[in-house]
Amino acid sequence: MTISFLLNGETVALRDVAPTRTLLDWLRETRGLTGTKEGCNEGDCGACTVIVTDDTGSRALNACILFLPQLQGRAVRTVEGISGPDGQLHPVQQAMIEHHGSQCGFCTPGFIAAMACAHLRGDTDHDRSLAGNLCRCTGYAPILRAARAAETAPVPDWMQTDRAALADPGFCLGEIPSGGPAGRGVDSPPRGQHPQSADELAEIYAANPDATLIAGATDVGLWVTKQLRDLDGPIFLGGCADLQEVAVTDSHIRIGAGVTVARLMQAIAPHHPSYAAMLRRYGSDQVRCAATLGGNIANGSPIGDNAPALIALGATLHLRRGEVRRSLPIGDFFLDYGKQDRAPGEFVEAVTIPRQPDRLRCYKISKRFDQDISALLGCFSITVEDGRVQAARIAFGGMAGIPKRAAHVEAALIGQPWEEASVLAAGDAWGRDFTPLSDMRASDAYRLATARNLLMRYLLEDQGAPVSVLEVRA
Ligand SMILES: Cc1cc2nc3c(=O)[nH]c(=O)nc-3n(C[C@H](O)[C@H](O)[C@H](O)COP(=O)(O)OP(=O)(O)OC[C@H]3O[C@@H](n4cnc5c(N)ncnc54)[C@H](O)[C@@H]3O)c2cc1C
Ligand code: FES
Ligand code: FES
Repeated sequence: MTISFLLNGETVALRDVAPTRTLLDWLRETRGLTGTKEGCNEGDCGACTVIVTDDTGSRALNACILFLPQLQGRAVRTVEGISGPDGQLHPVQQAMIEHHGSQCGFCTPGFIAAMACAHLRGDTDHDRSLAGNLCRCTGYAPILRAARAAETAPVPDWMQTDRAALADPGFCLGEIPSGGPAGRGVDSPPRGQHPQSADELAEIYAANPDATLIAGATDVGLWVTKQLRDLDGPIFLGGCADLQEVAVTDSHIRIGAGVTVARLMQAIAPHHPSYAAMLRRYGSDQVRCAATLGGNIANGSPIGDNAPALIALGATLHLRRGEVRRSLPIGDFFLDYGKQDRAPGEFVEAVTIPRQPDRLRCYKISKRFDQDISALLGCFSITVEDGRVQAARIAFGGMAGIPKRAAHVEAALIGQPWEEASVLAAGDAWGRDFTPLSDMRASDAYRLATARNLLMRYLLEDQGAPVSVLEVRA
């Protein structure tokens, strides 16, 4: 198989690329496109941001943790392709000059790519769309001024060609040979598998249970760039369109494992807005547009942000190995630190959330508002009838080796009046549910005290008090 994609409007076909060759390394070392910078090489700083377009739209992604096979059939635009064919500046480039948005310039290509992507999408929430880009010297005020100044400028013609080319029925990337300089990255077949459906994935993975599944690569990318791991024969999930479906019925919301966090955020917002607001603080736009729900659950992380929300919602996890499917309450999937209830060759196919009146509140505690891993995350869904707690589901990340329910706290609340005294009376139960660790994010005492306080925050919010950190005023 040949990996084919559009690069700055030019078709590229690659054979014999190592499956874990990153786009960033390839751009800089093979194509000589050194505008895209390497800062952290782990998805944190945005210096390597590029625009990736497919038939669902354009998004900013971090090239440092994007493997070349993930680009199959898509279009990539680097900072070199953001100015026009005759060297005309893009409106965001012109605005950055006029508003003094660059000093050392190291971050600037990444900012330009993120800004041009937001401009293309008509996205004017610049605080959000630039939160994944780190500037160490200019500071954000001039950059935000530039982004705002460019808002009303029309999208240049050359920025619209990728979507048009991919939508053209006569255009077939797979069959077009490299348009690049002869010999550059073009040779024999790539290693790694590219199933095009969940059925195909099930067959391939059952036959190769030791293979590494790669979805968004926001974890696996770091195994390669930071741990220098060699992954033999990975299976890329990006071609499985049926894993990327969201279906809402009267009884359930079903979310495929391949749904990105960015898409989940949109899909869940009408049903559980607090879940969506919490996901707004998951990584950055670049991370959310790559990371998938399946990857975030399957990695078993005790600080993954989706699991506590899904446990509090009583969600069911659907696993599949070959033709055999099984389902379990999502909390039961996490057995111990680093250990999940998943057999070799078995993969996450979907999650279903029962439809319910929205009582969910999610509180993410981290040192920064944006682009930070949770020190702890508390998710609460408490049903109150006639002033008494009738049912409670409380789940936390960052409080144990796995995402975990606060069963003793729930038991202490059920049947009690929904008031401050009951929340205080449940205080001792927290220590029976959790023995948190101290680490660089928080001490054990801080975690325990904060978890208790979050229940009080939930009660206060339920009583109409403003509790969002965005509403706190000095
Ligand atoms: C800069 C940065 C910021 C981040 N911020 C956050 C954050 O705020 N909150 C948070 O929770 N996480 C965060 N993460 C972690 C990361 O985004 C998540 O863990 C992510 O959801 C993983 O999903 P993925 O699709 O990228 O998985 P991948 O990296 O592709 O895979 C992760 C693991 O899951 C396995 N896997 C993937 N899909 C499946 C499947 N369908 N079935 C079985 N196994 C599968 C892979 O084999 C691998 O073991 C951050 C990461 C980065 C780099
Ligand atoms: S180099 Fe920092 S996000 Fe890629
Ligand atoms: S201009 Fe120097 S890091 Fe942003």
